[in-house]
Amino acid sequence: MSNLGKFTQTADWRKEKHVPVIEEIGQPQKGETFALRLSIGKEIAHPHTTEHHIRFIKLFFQPEEEKFTVHLGTYHFEAHGESVEGPNEGSAKCEPAVTTNITLEKPGTLLALSYCNIHGLWENSREITFSS
Ligand SMILES: [Fe+2]
Repeated sequence: MSNLGKFTQTADWRKEKHVPVIEEIGQPQKGETFALRLSIGKEIAHPHTTEHHIRFIKLFFQPEEEKFTVHLGTYHFEAHGESVEGPNEGSAKCEPAVTTNITLEKPGTLLALSYCNIHGLWENSREITFSS
């Protein structure tokens, strides 16, 4: 019995700004490296202030017909406008988006978790199949 739903929320990312968007760039093929983009706020921007921001996105893969999940990466976003001048006065921010390269030997399901410091943990998943 899964407890994940007790900790996470999900929705359509086009309507809910916290849901991580998972987009492969190109068509994944067995054993071939491809780029994957993870982002927050593609359709509806999430606030990005010292007080309210996205801290990280985690990425997992559940291979088809396997029991155990693979952790592919954790992408931290560390700069939210903090400065000696005060909150939101900093000269740089990192946006909650990342492109990474992954290689899959089996089809399966990607799971992304995003964390907002105010609104908690959100999830999205995406089936990955190989074209023949
Ligand atoms: Fe939020």
